[in-house]
Amino acid sequence: MKVLVVGGGGREHAICECLSRSKRVKKIYAAPGNAGIANLAECVDISVMDFEGLIDLVKKEGIDLSIIGMDDPLCAGIVDAFEAEGLRVFGPRKAAAILEGSKAFSKELMKKYSIPTAEYECFDNYDKAAAYLESCKYPTVIKADGLALGKGVYICKDKQEAMEALKEIMVDKKHSTAGDKIVIEEFMEGREVSVLSFVDGKTIKIMSSAQDHKRAYDNNEGPNTGGMGTFSPSPFYTKEVDEFCKKHIYQKTVDAMRESGREFKGIIFFGLMLTKDGPKVLEYNARFGDPETQVVLPRLRSDLVDIVEACIDGKLENVDIEFEDNAAVCVVLASKGYPVVYEKGFVIQGLDAISKEEDVYCFHAGTKFKDGKIVTNGGRVLGISAKAKSIKEAREKAYKSTELIGFENKYMRTDIADI
Ligand code: AMP
Ligand code: GLY
Repeated sequence: MKVLVVGGGGREHAICECLSRSKRVKKIYAAPGNAGIANLAECVDISVMDFEGLIDLVKKEGIDLSIIGMDDPLCAGIVDAFEAEGLRVFGPRKAAAILEGSKAFSKELMKKYSIPTAEYECFDNYDKAAAYLESCKYPTVIKADGLALGKGVYICKDKQEAMEALKEIMVDKKHSTAGDKIVIEEFMEGREVSVLSFVDGKTIKIMSSAQDHKRAYDNNEGPNTGGMGTFSPSPFYTKEVDEFCKKHIYQKTVDAMRESGREFKGIIFFGLMLTKDGPKVLEYNARFGDPETQVVLPRLRSDLVDIVEACIDGKLENVDIEFEDNAAVCVVLASKGYPVVYEKGFVIQGLDAISKEEDVYCFHAGTKFKDGKIVTNGGRVLGISAKAKSIKEAREKAYKSTELIGFENKYMRTDIADI
C-alpha cells in the first residue's frame, strides 16, 4: 500500500522509518518531509495546512492511508476534511483534537471525570485573573489556552512574574488568540513521564514510556524547548504507576471523550507528573510526541500499519502491540541559540558515516537540501537515537554517534538520560 505522512520533523522521520519496516508498505510519501525523510519517502512540497493540496495529492497518487503527525492541522480539522472525501486517515477529528487544542477544555474534562490533575481556575478576563493572582499560592503556573508552539506555559515564582506573564498573554497577545483564555494552576513537583497510546474510540493501548528533557541547558536550566533529548523506557514508570494510570487516567480519558460526543481515534500523549500524591496529568497531546517518538517507534516490533488500521476501524482490542525488550536514547543536535535566536544554512558533515552505525538512527528535524548538500534548517536539526540493552549503553552509543556529525554552531545537552 501507499502511505502519506503529513509533517516534516524528527517525529515524522521516525514514523517514516517505522513504516519502512512494514511488510505492507510499498511506497511512502511525506508532505513536506525533509532532507532525511527523502531517503525513505517521496517528499512533496505541500504545506501541512493546505488540506486541498494534500487531498489532491492523495487522490492523484492513489494513496491508501494518511498519517497526520502535527497538532496544527489536526486541530484545524484535517481529518474531517480527508474523511469528507472518503479518504482513510489516522488522527483525531477536530472535535476530539480539542483535547490538545484547548487546555481549558481538557482541565474541565478531567475535573468532571475525576481524572487526577493539578487544581486550577480558568479565566477569559484580565481583571479577574489579576485579582486571583493577588491571593493564590506561589509558585504558580499560567497557561495560554490554545496551541502556542510549546511556549504558552509560564512557571511563575512570585506575583510579579505572574503579573508579567498575564500581561504577555492577555494584553500583549504574544500567543495571539491562543491566549484569549488562560488556565492558572497549582505548581506540581515530581518527575515527568510521557506515555503515548493508540486509541480507537473505545479501546486504548499504551506504548512503552519515555522521558523528555524540555529545558535548553544541562541540569534543566534555561528556557523550555520542544525537547532536547529523550529516553525510553522510563525506569520511574513502575508497575504501580502503570496500574494507577490504567485505573484512574487512561481508559477514563477515552470514555470521557466518547461520552462528551468527541470520540477520539488516534494517538493520545499523556504528559504525567509523578507527584508524592500519585501520578497526575500535566497535559494531553493529540499526536505522537517529539522527540519521544524517536525513542519509542524504533523499539516497536509490531507492524505500525496494522495498529493504525485497527484504530481507524475500531478494532484495536484484537491487536497485540509488542515492543523490544531494550532501551533507546535520543540526543538532539540543535543550532546554538535555540530556542531564542539561531542561524541556519550550515552544511552538515558526517551523515554517511552515521548511517553505517548499527542500531543508531539519525532522525532529521530541521534540515534541507541546498546546492546538492544537506544544510541546517531549524532550531532542532537532528535527533541521534541509539538502541541497546540498557539506558546506560544506549546513552553511550548515542553520545558517541553525535561525534560523527559536524556543523557550525552545533549544540547539545550533555546530560540526556543521565539517570
Ligand atoms: P505543558 O505544555 O502543559 O506540558 O507544559 C510544559 C511544561 O511545563 C511541562 O512539561 C512541565 O515541565 C511544566 N509544567 C506544566 N504544568 C505544570 C505544573 N502544573 N506544575 C509544574 N510544572 C508544570
Ligand atoms: N515532547 C513534547 C511534545 O511533543 O509536545
